[in-house]
Amino acid sequence: DEGGQEAAGSATPLAVALEGLRRLEYRGYDSAGVALVGPGIDGVATAKKAGKLANLVEELGLRPLPAATSAIGHTRWATHGGPTDTNAHPHLADGDRLAVIHNGIIENFGELRTELAAGGVQFRSETDTEVAAHLVAREYRATKDLTRAMATAATRLQGTFTLLAVHADHPRTVVGARHDSPLVVGIGDGENFLGSDVAAFIAHTNEAMELGQDQVVTITPSSVEVTDFAGNPAEAKRYTVDWDAAAAEKGGFDSFMDKEIHDQPHAVADTLLGRTDAAGRLVLDDLRIDESVLRAVNKIIVVACGTAAYSGHVAKYAIEHWCRIPVEVELAHEFRYRDPIVDERTLVVAVTQSGETMDTLMAVRHAREQGAKVVSIVNTHGSTIPRESDAVLYTHAGPEIAVASTKAFLAQITAAYLLGLYLAQLRGNKFPDEIAALLDDLRDMPRKIQTVIERGEYVRATARSMSSSDKVLFLGRHVGFPVALEGALKLKELAYIHAEGFAAGELKHGPIALIDEGQPVFVVVPSPRGRDSLHSKVVSNIQEIRARGARTLVIAEDGDDEVRDYADEVFWIPKAPTLLQPLLAVVPLQIFAMALATAKGLDVDQPRNLAKSVTVE
Ligand code: F6R
Repeated sequence: DEGGQEAAGSATPLAVALEGLRRLEYRGYDSAGVALVGPGIDGVATAKKAGKLANLVEELGLRPLPAATSAIGHTRWATHGGPTDTNAHPHLADGDRLAVIHNGIIENFGELRTELAAGGVQFRSETDTEVAAHLVAREYRATKDLTRAMATAATRLQGTFTLLAVHADHPRTVVGARHDSPLVVGIGDGENFLGSDVAAFIAHTNEAMELGQDQVVTITPSSVEVTDFAGNPAEAKRYTVDWDAAAAEKGGFDSFMDKEIHDQPHAVADTLLGRTDAAGRLVLDDLRIDESVLRAVNKIIVVACGTAAYSGHVAKYAIEHWCRIPVEVELAHEFRYRDPIVDERTLVVAVTQSGETMDTLMAVRHAREQGAKVVSIVNTHGSTIPRESDAVLYTHAGPEIAVASTKAFLAQITAAYLLGLYLAQLRGNKFPDEIAALLDDLRDMPRKIQTVIERGEYVRATARSMSSSDKVLFLGRHVGFPVALEGALKLKELAYIHAEGFAAGELKHGPIALIDEGQPVFVVVPSPRGRDSLHSKVVSNIQEIRARGARTLVIAEDGDDEVRDYADEVFWIPKAPTLLQPLLAVVPLQIFAMALATAKGLDVDQPRNLAKSVTVE
């Protein structure tokens, strides 16, 4: 994450950049680096270190950098290449006279790397970013115009990116570009700033300018120029930031959880990025397990805890349907101690946001001891579980700060679906065009998730009116069942309310006894277009509980008129294929739990008794 700045007020450019990075550290912290240019510097002066920002600060204490006129800095959340000193940004090119930092994912980096290597470029890191640095350098050598070079390079990149560059030839200039990734300009007095969000420079100015899609910005101490990728002058929106520094870190949201709920369309989109080839076939580069082994798999066991385990529950329905391989989902701590039947043909899938959950790690070790191959689905690079797995499929949700998981859940379902589709492709269970159609449906989900988020105010108002509830039930069938379990977990952990999720079909077998006058019950209703009359079964369940006095809060698909008559409240979600509906249906439940907890005056980011990563058994 970049905190770039230029020229100096009272603080040096390096100090401003480091302070910006500190304020952005919540966005990712597996390594950090800075690059400086100035009339007295030969080339570019850099320092970069794996680990937290404190490691970089210590390094700078031991080996101070010379005085500079411009600085750029970055804290990294690894996507391509592990969190090492070498993979940390900035990346240098043009005889170490150009430095580049990057946020996002460059999808076509493999192709570009081959092209640049054929032209004699020697790569030093495993990152996608280094490709961008060499592309900018190649263009720069042709024109000696850093802005043009950045714009031209940007047109070659697919994926998402914010890039910043400095060059020794232009010690008072920083150039940035963005495509589907944020970049904001801070306008100072005799100094200007760039950052991924205003938190980076809020201590220096609250005058900001938001760059539009596909724009390039060039700042010097006294000027800000914006163009499009073709070099035409462009307009950027100027505004005054009225947040304080603390609010700025949360992007203006009241809590990290609220911010992370709003990040969800990106979390899903980024997890899908870069995972198909030019012919539209799924390529899971990071899945380094021999294809013959994957073809021979005769059982999958998902091991995980809490929310991550519910994502596994959802994935079970999809993977069994697509691949015709039996899938078990087991809480990692139960798996480990029950003498599970695991052998060389078992694929164990460990799902974990933190990559550090001790219960899940123990399950991974146990599975490998029994001869199983382990694929982990992990959000945090550099964590333990990927290191101890045979292969890893990273979710690209970005750092999740709030203790209760939200965006990681959606990214986990997305990654598990990619794994399921990949296995179906490999084993010939599905035709390529079927897989392509399913991928298209998945790619359409971020837009629909955004719609659900935009409808959040009605959910929040309902939650506020229910802040005195002491028991809430959640019902769902098929993939709606794990969604109900997740809705209940969110409410327990955030609002400290007794909440329980059930399979709707189980109602008559016991839980219906809990229903009395006014009992709130959330019901996740499947699509009326879905198969096997699931919809009508759930509608019957709603009638049964309503007849016994329940207050029904229903999550239903747009246009589902039948449900309207039986629901006290309806939270509408866009139409989606049955297997993808959880990515939408869970969002109102997250918002509900957050809003109800907030109405009770509770801290939604740090609920009592909980820790973000549970590193003890
Ligand atoms: C619930 C929650 C936890 C985690 C669980 C696993 O909101 O956050 O249930 O999902 O502790 O954590 P990871 O995914 O880090 O293994």
